[in-house]
Order: sequence, then structure tokens, then C-alpha cells
Amino acid sequence: MSRSGRLAALAAALLLAVPATDIIFANPSSLVDSPGNLLTFHARFSGPEIARILQHGPWPVAAQRDPSNRVSGLPEAIAFGKVLFFEKRLSGNGGSSCATCHLPELDFTDGKARGEGFVLLDRNTPGLLDVRLNRWFGWDGAADSLWAQSLRPIVDRREMAASTTHVGALVRSDPELVAGYRKAFGVPPSGDDEVTLNVGKALAAFQETLESGRTPFDDFRDAVERGDSQAAMRYPAAAQRGLKIFVGKGNCSTCHFGPNFTNGEFGDIGIPYFVAPGQVDPGRYGGIQKLLESRANLLGKYSDDPARSSAAGTRHVRLEHRNWGEFRVPSLRNVAKTAPYMHNGHLATLRDVVRHYSNLNEDRLHADGEKILRPLKLSAAEEDDLVAFLESLTPSHPGSY
Ligand code: HEC
Ligand code: HEC
Repeated sequence: MSRSGRLAALAAALLLAVPATDIIFANPSSLVDSPGNLLTFHARFSGPEIARILQHGPWPVAAQRDPSNRVSGLPEAIAFGKVLFFEKRLSGNGGSSCATCHLPELDFTDGKARGEGFVLLDRNTPGLLDVRLNRWFGWDGAADSLWAQSLRPIVDRREMAASTTHVGALVRSDPELVAGYRKAFGVPPSGDDEVTLNVGKALAAFQETLESGRTPFDDFRDAVERGDSQAAMRYPAAAQRGLKIFVGKGNCSTCHFGPNFTNGEFGDIGIPYFVAPGQVDPGRYGGIQKLLESRANLLGKYSDDPARSSAAGTRHVRLEHRNWGEFRVPSLRNVAKTAPYMHNGHLATLRDVVRHYSNLNEDRLHADGEKILRPLKLSAAEEDDLVAFLESLTPSHPGSY
């Protein structure tokens, strides 16, 4: 057996042997040779906690083609989509592009509490890194594919306020856009509806390539898997203690699950959802209504997946009262760089988020089934640790875009 194989076997044996007791790494004494890192002893993980840590990786997740988008993964479509993403003429008045709200230098957010188009929007602009891993799109999951989500802002009167006639005419009239379109789709641009739909699919192909890099947490997680305590101890003590809260008493990883730190579904954590006096954002409830009404959902004729197997999730969606005020569980990768937080930008900093969970007002939880949430009543030091952990989900190097 190779050295790494032996260590992995040792780690596995440890997990099996003492599932519920406090264990740390295979050989704690090997941590002593670097006195500065002795603090790593403070984070002692139980077997179940180690198992939870491991399920947050490995990272990155292998790229997969989207079967509903025939140009998914195609270099020519990615290149064309990139041009379109920055193309202001796509908007009705020529004044804004996708990048006006999703700024690459701000990790594809706008840094504002709520998006600003022709009017102030009700919701926060999400970053687009790792967006390919979403099952639903938008805070309410009103779209079930990245291409359908990408069409929405173009024709939304509050965002880019264009029309399919406008998009069709633009793409047909500009020689460079005609050339890009031809390369991506193998045919020249024709009717307005088809051109607009394909613009959405090229935009999706581009956005699928936006991926966040590996983080200090990923290095730690892989070191735990290998049983490599030397590498594991490079992960700061505060982040380790915060991680222990995250996978332990905080129960955070129940919803912020898996390599992308989200179970992909919707939840209610008691963020106020009033948009104006007497007016509420219905969240997932409204999202399901829009999704089922949309001609561009995965059950419809615009999907390129003949078997419609990618529509399995959509087929099973049912409107239920508990969906009121639910919003999508966001990924936490890169989270230190995407403030402000929540569907309406209600919380300005990660410390505010941690305090929200710490002092949770249970009366605010309007949906049922969220019994996992309890006020955590963290000490100031524990709050610091949880923030340090969340910060360690930020890539050590900027992503590749
Ligand atoms: C006026 C600002 C604005 C513009 C312009 C804009 N967006 Fe957005 N974008 C938002 C907001 C706000 C949301 C959240 C919408 C919601 O939840 O209903 C969003 C959501 C998204 C999402 C869903 C992300 C997720 O995690 O689910 C994608 C993808 C997206 N936009 C892509 C685009 C593309 C492509 C364009 C250009 C065609 C674009 N956006 C133009 C503000 C904007
Ligand atoms: C019941 C499921 C659930 C649990 C448990 C949970 N979260 Fe969340 N989290 C959510 C949802 C849903 C949102 C978005 C809520 C909204 O916008 O209204 C969210 C939002 C966040 C955000 C903001 C991200 C962003 O981009 O805006 C952070 C950070 C966060 N959670 C961290 C945590 C931490 C830390 C814990 C543990 C103390 C935790 N969460 C536990 C469901 C959950």
C-alpha cells in the first residue's frame, strides 16, 4: 500500500473505531514540531464531525455538460457568451449589460444591498462563481436552468428592458455578433425568438466556466482525508474551532451541505421579507408559480434534452404553503467577498450573519420544518471563530476568468 493509502486507511480505521469520542489526527505528537501551531489541539473533532467535514469536498467539482443546453461546454459558445455578457447594446437603451450588476472585479456581485436597474430591485445581486452547480436559479428558484435564468434580465423591464425583437435585430445587424453566433450554433442568426433563446444558451455556456478556486478549508479537508496532520495544522486554529461549530452544535452544514455548501434547496432563517409596508416577497412560493408558468422551463420545448431527464426536479415541484418566505440556501464559497448578505442584502457583514444565527428570533420563522434552527447563544470568542471559518472559504488565489 502507498504511504497515502496507509494514512487514509489509518484515518478510516480511527473513524470506525471511535466514532463518537473526541479524536483529532492520526498522530497528534507530529503537531508539536511547530510550536506556533499548537493551538490546532483546541479543535477536537468527533467522528461524525469528521464525516461532515469530508462531505464538504473534494473541490473543485468536475465539470459536467448541461444536457438541456446543446452548446454547454463548447469553446465557441463560451467565447460568444463572454462577449454577450459585457455587451451593453443587449439592453433596451444601450446603457447596461450583465456586467453592470455582476461585476467581475466584485466576484460578479455589485456590492450593493439590492440590485439597481431602472428601479431599485427587491433582491440582492448574487455572485456567479460556481453558478453551474445550482439546481435552481434566483433566490426563489424561478428558473430551473442557467440559460432560462439568463434570458430573464434581458427582457425584465426593471433590469435591461429589451425585447426579443431588439435582441434579434442586434445580433443580425452586427458582423462580429453574426460571426460569433455562427461559430457557436453552426447557423446564421434567424428569427427573434430563436436568436434570443440562443443568446441565453451562450451566456449560460460562459457562466458555467466561472469557478472559485481552492480555499484554505479545502486544503485542510483534504489533509484530514489523507491523515496528514502536518498539512492540517496549517489551517488556523480559529478557523478550526469555527468549523467545529459549523459542523457541530451550529448545525449549519445541514442546509449548507456538500462541496458547494448548499443543499440546493430553500429554507427560512427568519430574515424579514417585507419589501414595502404591507408588501412581502413571497420567496419560493412565488418562484414555483413563475417556474411552472414559464415557457422556458425544462419541461418545455426549448430544452435540448430530448429525454427530459434533466426536468425530473421540475416535474416534482408542488406549491405548498410552507414555501412562503423561503429563499434558496446560498453557497458559502467565496462568501467573505460577496457582502452584503441574504436575499435582500439585509445583513452587512459576516459578523452580522453570525449574530443573526446566534440571537435567532424563533418567532420570526414563518415556515414549518425549520426546527433545526435554534438561537446558538455564541460567546464573543465563538462568534470570532465562526467568522474566521467563513472567511477561510475564500479562495487563496483569485478564480480563473
Ligand atoms: C439590474 C441588475 C442586474 C442585471 C443587469 C443582471 N442581473 Fe443577474 N441578477 C440580478 C439580481 C438582483 C438577481 C437575483 C434575482 C432573483 O433572485 O430574483 C440576479 C440573478 C442572476 C442569476 C442567478 C444566480 C443564482 O445564484 O441563482 C444569474 C445566473 C444571473 N443573474 C445572470 C445574469 C445575466 C446573464 C445577465 C445579463 C443578461 C444579468 N444577470 C443581468 C441583478 C442583475
Ligand atoms: C435551515 C437551513 C439553514 C441553516 C441550518 C443555516 N443556514 Fe445559512 N442560510 C440559509 C438560507 C435559506 C439563507 C438565505 C436566507 C435569505 O436570504 O433569506 C442562508 C444564508 C446564509 C448566509 C448568507 C450568504 C449570502 O451569500 O448571502 C451565510 C453566511 C450563512 N447562511 C451562514 C450560516 C451559518 C454560519 C450557519 C450555522 C450557524 C447557517 N448558515 C445555518 C439556510 C440555513
